[in-house]
Amino acid sequence: MISIKSEREIALMREAGLMVSKTHEYLQKYIRPGITTKELNRMAEEYILCLGGIPTCKGYEGFPSGLCTSVNDTVVHGIPSNQKLKEGDIISVDMVIGYKGYQGDAAWTYAVGEVSADKRYLMEHTEKALYKGIEQIKPGAHIGDISSAIETYAKEHHLGVVEELCGHGIGREMHEDPEVPNYGIKKAGPRLKEGMVICVEPMLTYGDKAIYILEDNWTVKTEDGKPAAHYEHTVLVTKEGYEILTPRLNEEYLYE
Ligand code: MF3
Ligand code: CO
Repeated sequence: MISIKSEREIALMREAGLMVSKTHEYLQKYIRPGITTKELNRMAEEYILCLGGIPTCKGYEGFPSGLCTSVNDTVVHGIPSNQKLKEGDIISVDMVIGYKGYQGDAAWTYAVGEVSADKRYLMEHTEKALYKGIEQIKPGAHIGDISSAIETYAKEHHLGVVEELCGHGIGREMHEDPEVPNYGIKKAGPRLKEGMVICVEPMLTYGDKAIYILEDNWTVKTEDGKPAAHYEHTVLVTKEGYEILTPRLNEEYLYE
């Protein structure tokens, strides 16, 4: 069942989403060579609590931290550790924040210092694939329209589409119906209605799309060791189209 949010629920989800945006903005200043992913996680958890939010991932099915920190060939669900970031790494930071019972969820990939042209290409086109998907959102559109737009854009740019993980509905729970795959067929799947809220989140690879999961049962890596990127927004279906509930507050920091 895909829930339709009331005006009151939408207002709370907007607040939760803004907390996610603020925490990303706060964190990106610290993403530089030498910092560990554990330090980033600690700063994020403290910041989220200061904002009055809850880091929902922490304790979710046993996940140990508020952030997922996924470096280079880690696609998603990397666990913060004592690993230091190095010049040339890319790191995908994914977080979910709860506020008064409602969730906001967004991920983006950051460059650590100067990164290779290949990694920059991967980041740029994964983010563009996210917006290609989001642009499909309006009442009456099908989930497959989003999926197909992302897949088509990724393939045109010779990037691999990870198929095992997908986007999702969101609300009181971080994962609700429907599933939002990053590959699919136009006009297939459920239709969107005003008041639905979904997370769109392409996970694209610079090489092959095959992945495997580490023994920790969380960390998802590319089979071929090539880098992956992950961009995600929480998006409300409006009467006219859509509203991104996790807007980027500081675009100018994006590729510096
Ligand atoms: N944003 C992630 C997702 O959509 C959050 C899950 S991480 C978990 O799947 F650790 F909490 F599971
Ligand atoms: Co998500």
